[in-house]
Amino acid sequence: MPTPSEPDPEESMSNQPWWRHAVIYQVYPRSWADADGDGIGDLPGITSRLEHLADLGVDALWLSPFYVSPQNDAGYDVADFRDVDPLFGTLDDFDALVERAHGLGLRVIVDVVPNHSSSEHPWFQAALAAGPGSAERARYVFRPGQGPDRSEPPNNWISNFGGSAWTRVTEADGTPGEWYLHLFDVTQPDFDWTNPEVREELHSVLRFWLDRGVDGFRIDVAHGLIKADGLPDADLLLDTVGSHTRLLPMWDQPEVHDVYRSWRTLVEGYAGSLADLWGQDDDRMLCGEAWVEPAHALAQYVRPDELHQTFNFSFLLTPWDAPALRDAIGRSLESAADVGAPQTWVLSNHDVVRHATRLGRSDATRVVDTEGIGPDDEQPDAELGLRRARAATTLMLALPGSAYLYQGEELGLPDATELPTDVLQDPTWELSGHERRGRDGCRVPVPWESTGPSLGFGPEGEPWLPQPSAYADLAPARQRGVEGSTLELYRTLLRLRRELDLGTRSLAWIEDGDDHGVEHVDGLLSFALVASGGDVVATVHTNVSSVPVPRPPGELLVSSGEVADDHLPADTTVWLRPHPA
Ligand code: NOJ
Repeated sequence: MPTPSEPDPEESMSNQPWWRHAVIYQVYPRSWADADGDGIGDLPGITSRLEHLADLGVDALWLSPFYVSPQNDAGYDVADFRDVDPLFGTLDDFDALVERAHGLGLRVIVDVVPNHSSSEHPWFQAALAAGPGSAERARYVFRPGQGPDRSEPPNNWISNFGGSAWTRVTEADGTPGEWYLHLFDVTQPDFDWTNPEVREELHSVLRFWLDRGVDGFRIDVAHGLIKADGLPDADLLLDTVGSHTRLLPMWDQPEVHDVYRSWRTLVEGYAGSLADLWGQDDDRMLCGEAWVEPAHALAQYVRPDELHQTFNFSFLLTPWDAPALRDAIGRSLESAADVGAPQTWVLSNHDVVRHATRLGRSDATRVVDTEGIGPDDEQPDAELGLRRARAATTLMLALPGSAYLYQGEELGLPDATELPTDVLQDPTWELSGHERRGRDGCRVPVPWESTGPSLGFGPEGEPWLPQPSAYADLAPARQRGVEGSTLELYRTLLRLRRELDLGTRSLAWIEDGDDHGVEHVDGLLSFALVASGGDVVATVHTNVSSVPVPRPPGELLVSSGEVADDHLPADTTVWLRPHPA
């Protein structure tokens, strides 16, 4: 068995590119900090709060879209890929943000939305005006309808937000015309990625932001750009984000990989251009949002000449169950290792119910609830949810690879689960005919103070979504320096993760009969983090069951909740330094 050890200074994270082990914090610009008091967050607000991230100990921030947009999908409907929406500030504000972040040692990743534009984008407006058969229409997916008067959509695809994925336009002469594809909102027409002009345009957009000093991109709907030839009907019995995505003609088509090969070449051309900041460790990074299953299909996106990372949604989707977690972690690590990529880990983002809420519901196997949770639904057990969320994060931040945090999870924020329907803004609500509430619950503005208008989110006025009353006690102002608070737990985890280089270690499951002195019981997930020389740096144990289990031996480094000398309580994770042999 490997022996316990102190971290080996010779074998530090700095030997591996930053993106192989970075912890990246997602900032959702509408909801992080509002400097101008209009109730919506903005870039100057973000800049004013960046010290929170440096103090937390993350390596980078990822900004969701702040580009010019009518905001029909909270900015994922982009009308100008090269400018800042006045709602969020100006390009100068963006430059100031990047400069401040870099000054604090934080890298900056921005979102790129290549699958679609806003219908207000000049290209789409030109396509409408130019008419069928034009070069302008060829940048999007326009098709004639079916049926004698062409009044049926070209195929049976449905939008992710509900309803048909096709909308018919009225031509310039007033007659009903062609249909255009939108896998999301009706105001988000899909580009036609078989058109070289589209490819060139997105290359140019990447260069625009790289020239302004960004450190990488999160790629929206990375698996959706290419559609199957002939746009065949989909088997609608298959879940659009579920298993074997390739069986659906709008996702994960083989030709999409060519796009990312060209993007990799492009960003590699920028390596070293920020060497004054990052020295040798100066790669630009690409992370794909690709809801692709199974794991080996997803791994194709992170082959050495493609993306650096993809989000690992299979981990996020895994229920709170020891065998399921072990299986998901094991398969994730194996599939990434097969192509030599780092794995990534994520538990919350702006599209899913926060993990502090979903893990507090009676059916903890129901993981992502894209329906949203409303006042008439079962409300989560807040205490249970937070306890499990802390345990889940403590597990996640020990795993090898790179991890993503979503704003406010370091405060233990739950979703807003009692939003009245008249404040809902997610297009899902309208497009689903008021059947699915959508994702507003996880997008509520962050509290910074425990009192005052919008709990310190902005200087005055109401925030764009009302904050739950529970947010007052969760503000950083209440948690900073408070032993046992969620904020202090995250700070400790991130400090130890860095000190022990956990992001670069290998994971070895602790099995029955191993010489770790761990008593095996159902519901206990145990693994060791092993240095390249074979030494064990730490062991990690999560009690995923609802009863206490015997405490494994070792010196306590950190725990997600209180632990006793002899047992590990339910829903608790510990990191232990093995006792010397
Ligand atoms: C994924 C984004 O995360 C989500 O918020 C957005 O609605 C869709 N892509 C469409 O851009």
